[in-house]
Amino acid sequence: MCGIVGFIGVRPAKDILLDGLAKLEYRGYDSAGIAVLEDGLEVEKSVGKLANLVEKLKDKELNATIGIGHTRWATHGKPSDANAHPHTSANKKFAVVHNGIIENYLQLKEDYLNDVCFQSETDTEVVAQLLGKFYDGNLEETVRRVLALLKGSYTLVILCSDYPDLLIACRKANPLVLGVGEGENFIASDVPALLAYTRNCIYPNDGELCFVKREGITIKDSEGKIIEPKIKQILWNAEAVEKNGYEHYMLKEIHEQPDAFRRMLKNRLKDGKVYFEEFTWNKEQAKKWRKIHIVACGTAYHSGLVGRTVFEKLAKIPVEVEIASEFRYREPMLDEDTLVIAISQSGETADTKAALEEGKSKGCKVLALTNVVDSAVAREADYVFYLQAGPEISVASTKAYTTMLLAQYLLAIYLADLRECISQDAYASLVHQLTLLPQYAEKIMLEENLKQLAKLAEEYHDTENLFFVGRGMDWAIALEGSLKLKEISYIHAEAYAAGELKHGTLALITDKTPVIALAVQGKTYDKTLSNIKEIKARDAKVLAVVKEGAEQIDKVVDKVLYLPAMDDMVMPILSVIPLQLIAYYTAKDRGCSIDQPRNLAKSVTVE
Ligand code: AGP
Repeated sequence: MCGIVGFIGVRPAKDILLDGLAKLEYRGYDSAGIAVLEDGLEVEKSVGKLANLVEKLKDKELNATIGIGHTRWATHGKPSDANAHPHTSANKKFAVVHNGIIENYLQLKEDYLNDVCFQSETDTEVVAQLLGKFYDGNLEETVRRVLALLKGSYTLVILCSDYPDLLIACRKANPLVLGVGEGENFIASDVPALLAYTRNCIYPNDGELCFVKREGITIKDSEGKIIEPKIKQILWNAEAVEKNGYEHYMLKEIHEQPDAFRRMLKNRLKDGKVYFEEFTWNKEQAKKWRKIHIVACGTAYHSGLVGRTVFEKLAKIPVEVEIASEFRYREPMLDEDTLVIAISQSGETADTKAALEEGKSKGCKVLALTNVVDSAVAREADYVFYLQAGPEISVASTKAYTTMLLAQYLLAIYLADLRECISQDAYASLVHQLTLLPQYAEKIMLEENLKQLAKLAEEYHDTENLFFVGRGMDWAIALEGSLKLKEISYIHAEAYAAGELKHGTLALITDKTPVIALAVQGKTYDKTLSNIKEIKARDAKVLAVVKEGAEQIDKVVDKVLYLPAMDDMVMPILSVIPLQLIAYYTAKDRGCSIDQPRNLAKSVTVE
C-alpha cells in the first residue's frame, strides 16, 4: 500500500526521493508526490504512475537538500492530484506524508478546523491543517499536541518550513525505518527505499518522536526523554531489490526459491537436527499445547492449509487454519494451552495483526512467521521465525509462500521431537528429504522444463474460467495455484476439492473450462484419478500434475506434467512451483502487469 520516503543531507533531495519512491512502487499505489524545502515549501504531485511525477519534475530545478515523498493507495478520496500526498497546511508552513488511517478525521475537522478550506478529501490533510493551526513557533510541542488528538494508525513524516535542518517522523502501528548515513539521513516505510544508500537502520517504536537531522538522529519517548536508538544492520544488499536480468520480479523470485530453501536449512539444521535457538521451549511446554490456530491471509493462509496436515501428522497437535479477517469475529475458543501461529510475509497485514492480538488477549502464546525484520507482527508476537527469503517485491507471493511451507515443516519436526512423537528414523528421513529440496526445485526450473511450462500456458490465453482440483495437500496447493493465476492473469480460477466437484460444481465443467488436476499424493491418487475421469467425461481439457512414474494418467488426460519424485510429505513444496510458473507465463502471454496487478497492494495495512 502507501510508501513513505524522507531525506536530509547535502545532495539534492529530489532525486533521492524519486529513487526511494521507485523502490516502493511494488507495494501498489495510484498517485505520488514530493515536497522539498527551497526558500519555501515546493510540492509536486501526480495521479497515476511515478513516471508522471518524474515527467512533471523533469524541468524543475530543485536544489533543496531536505524533502519528503509518498506513494498513495487511495482509502479516503479517489486517486487524484489533489488527494495525493504530501498535504500542506493552509499557512504553507507544514508538509506531511502519512501511511495508515486517521479514524477520527471528520470529528477533528468539526472540532478544530471549521474555518479551514480543505484542498483534498483525505484524512491526512487534517494532520497538516492541525499542525498549521496549532503552531506557535515550538515545533515539538505542536507535533505532540496534534498527535495526542489522533485516533487510528499512522506513520507520519513532517516537514516544517521554519526548520530547514529537521524532519520529524513517528509511528503508531505502522512501519517506519530510519536509515543512518554520514552527513545525511533517511526515512522510509520500508527497507528497499534505503538500501542504495545505507544498510544501517533504526526501527523506532510506537509513540517515539524521531528528530532526523543531517548530523544525526535523536529519538525521544512519549515523555520527551531521549533514548538511545539501536542501530541494526540490514543483511540484504541493494541488488536484492533489483531484477538482476529477469524480466519481472516474480520470475526472479520464483528462481530464488532453491537458494531461499538452502539458506533456511543451513540456519536451522545442525548435525541432522532441527534447532531454534530463539525459542526457549522445553518438552513440558511443547506437550502442554493442545491446539494450534494458524491465522493468515491469502497466500499465507494457503501455506497454513499445508501446515495443518504437517503439524497434525508429525507433532500430533490438532490444528485449525483460519482466514485472519474472520478469526476474531467468530469468537474462537482459545486458552493458554493454544499456540497461535500468525503467518505474514510482510508482517504488516492488518487482518493478521488483529488476529494475533485476539490470540494474545485470550492468553495464547503467539508465534510469528514473517519475512520482514521488526515488522508489526514480529514485534507483537512472543516468538518469531524469520523466513529470510530476501525481499519479495512482486505482489504475487512465491518464495515467501514456499519458505512459509518449509518453515512449518521444520517447526513441526521440532515440535514432534519435543513431544516425543516421532521416531528417529522418521525424523532422519524427513530431514534428509528436506535437504534435497533445493536441488529438486532447481530441476523443475531447468530450461527445457520452463519451455514446456510456457507452452502449456499458451493454452490458457483466451480462457475465461479455469478449475484446479486436488485432494488433501494437493487441494491446498490447488488453492494457491488458482490464487496465483487469478491475481496476475485476471482469469477466473477456482480450486476445488476433487471429491467435492460432483456435489454441484461439476455442472460448470464443459469443453470451455480447462482443468488443472493435481494428483501428486499417493494416498489419494486413485480417487483423484476417478474424479479426473468424471471431468473428462464432461469434455474439459485436463492438465494433470503428477509425480514421475505415475501410472495410467497419460491415457486419461490431455497433458501430463511430471514432477521429480520425492516423499509425498514434502511434495507440496515442489508441486506449487510449476503452478507459479504457469500463472506467470499465462499472465505474460496475456500482456498483464505481472509485478503490480490491478487493484492489489503488496502489503494490506487496512482491515
Ligand atoms: C499473494 O500472492 C497475495 N498477493 C496475497 O494473498 C498475500 O499473500 C496476502 O495479502 C497476505 O500478505 P502477507 O503474507 O504479507 O500477510
